Amino acid sequence: MADDYEIVAAIDFGTTYSGYAYCSKTDFKRSPPVIKTSAWKSGTGTCDKFMKTPTVVLFDQNRKFDSFGFEAEKKYLKLALRNQQESWYFFKRFKMRLHQRETERTNERLTIDTIVEDETGKSMKALDVFSSAIQYLKDHLQNLLIEQGMRDKNEVMKKVRWVLTVPAIWTDPAKEFMKKAAIKAGLPENKLLLALEPEAASLCCWSIRNVSPDGRTILTPGLSYTVLDMGGGTADIVTHKIEDGEKLREMHAPVGGDWGGTKVNSSFQGLLIKLVGAPVLSKFKNKHVVDYLEMMNDFEIKKQFVSLENDEEVMLTVPGSLVKIFEEETDGENLSDVIEQTPMKGQLEWTFGRLILQPELFKTFFSISLDNVIKKLKELFNATESQDVSTLLLVGGFSESRILRKAIREAFTDKRIIHPEHPSLAILEGAVIYGHSPMSVKTRICKYTYGFMAAKSIKQHDQNIPKNRTIMDGTCETMIFDKLVEVGQAVEAGRYQVQKTYSKLSPDQSSMILFMYTSTDKDPQYVTDDSCSLLGDLIINLPPGHREVVVSTMFSDTFLTVKAVEKDSNTEVTARFSFLA
Ligand SMILES: Nc1ncnc2c1ncn2[C@@H]1O[C@H](COP(=O)(O)OP(=O)(O)OP(=O)(O)O)[C@@H](O)[C@H]1O
Ligand SMILES: [Mg+2]
Repeated sequence: MADDYEIVAAIDFGTTYSGYAYCSKTDFKRSPPVIKTSAWKSGTGTCDKFMKTPTVVLFDQNRKFDSFGFEAEKKYLKLALRNQQESWYFFKRFKMRLHQRETERTNERLTIDTIVEDETGKSMKALDVFSSAIQYLKDHLQNLLIEQGMRDKNEVMKKVRWVLTVPAIWTDPAKEFMKKAAIKAGLPENKLLLALEPEAASLCCWSIRNVSPDGRTILTPGLSYTVLDMGGGTADIVTHKIEDGEKLREMHAPVGGDWGGTKVNSSFQGLLIKLVGAPVLSKFKNKHVVDYLEMMNDFEIKKQFVSLENDEEVMLTVPGSLVKIFEEETDGENLSDVIEQTPMKGQLEWTFGRLILQPELFKTFFSISLDNVIKKLKELFNATESQDVSTLLLVGGFSESRILRKAIREAFTDKRIIHPEHPSLAILEGAVIYGHSPMSVKTRICKYTYGFMAAKSIKQHDQNIPKNRTIMDGTCETMIFDKLVEVGQAVEAGRYQVQKTYSKLSPDQSSMILFMYTSTDKDPQYVTDDSCSLLGDLIINLPPGHREVVVSTMFSDTFLTVKAVEKDSNTEVTARFSFLA
């Protein structure tokens, strides 16, 4: 990582909201460090300023970037009011396209050509959508720094070290995709770090927000604490311990899932589908874009402000245009009659263009997120690595929800539950801190077992080799999983630590290709085992002659770096694996 920087700028690229924060080396030395954040205006009120803007991108008919954030939302609404939006490309929540569940890892490989669909099903290359969004944020910050006194864009690029946040639970290909998009957006690779979102929040909480209102230190050396980052898309969970020397040790590999705040909005849509049917809702969404967007905005406001205390009923607006389509498609059926025939009867009322929900029904919108998160945390706290966890830090925008907080408090009465003042900001500020001192995270835990595909000499006609194995020339068994590190193992960040020696097949072999595999198994035997999947490959060019190559690996900046040294000549090749096909 290039060391010639004056400012660290972090971009928090969220599923629902994005923003940036920055801090110079001088400001970082102050106590506490002075970290400045982006400010956005939604344009709907006189005193509206937000630290993040919606992660929404608009492209024109020719797929040319038009706008981002609140501006893109406003422009799309204006286009829709004139019925001109159809040929435009409007992307929302596209970050979730990169979230791959464990079970999907082998089925659908993320590639550089992966496609993402916009709100109306039109597609574009995901890399273009991501890089346009990142470029917008980069340009915005560049302009701001120039307004504040820096000479020009070149000077900004020369002086800034960039950090981009990614969910900790993402797979290596997803993280690499994000990095590729950032490079395409113009962020220099040698000045770009990826920060894991909950890890950033953790850094922020212990290094600059570590004092309770009564002046006590919250996180102390030796204490194990779990960070629950509830974002719009993902719930990301890590457990850290502060070690001597004030470095963070990760206690288990990050866990979580796609249980973020947008699941609540999807559940509301699920209720509408139960009432009017999917075809009606889809027709409404296509024909009455403005009404649809307004209905979802109204829901978002209710979701954020309803606390359900004192048995509060919740009133949701349903546009007349949706009801009209429903009546047309059903020959005049009545919504109240439909409700009477569902199990929601008694919990839901339809009156004067409003749905009135009893608190118990409104709470079910949160169930997918909350049930999954609570179950995962319980599993975690029962595991040996997390048994002495006493504190749970709630960060991420969704953790502002009073419904969520109450559910977590009720589920974990034995834990101290803390939410920093600005739970969403913690990730941004922490990403800046990480940029200034990436080595503050000392140890990470491997999410998978990593290994190279290797061949091993065997005795001629060895009886112990199973019949279905691949044997080369009768002397060499191939497809062996040669383990580097195993799932659950602690690896020190930024240090070459695992070495393997491989031999050339012949003295004139001029290159060696290494195939890296991952496995969910601790000790896979063959790369063809069900638990294994190909992660990427690395080509090492070799000088003629010498026969042995020593390969060392290092986990740093959330990535795997491989160094290969030709043993006799000491020729060194360093390469990064490409995880993307
Ligand atoms: N008071 C609140 N009550 C309920 N939900 C809230 C509240 N405030 C914010 N949210 C939800 O939090 C989410 C946004 O949080 P955040 O900004 O941390 O997510 P993100 O960074 O966009 O997503 P991710 O980190 O998963 O990519 C949205 O789903 C939003 O609806
Ligand atoms: Mg986030």
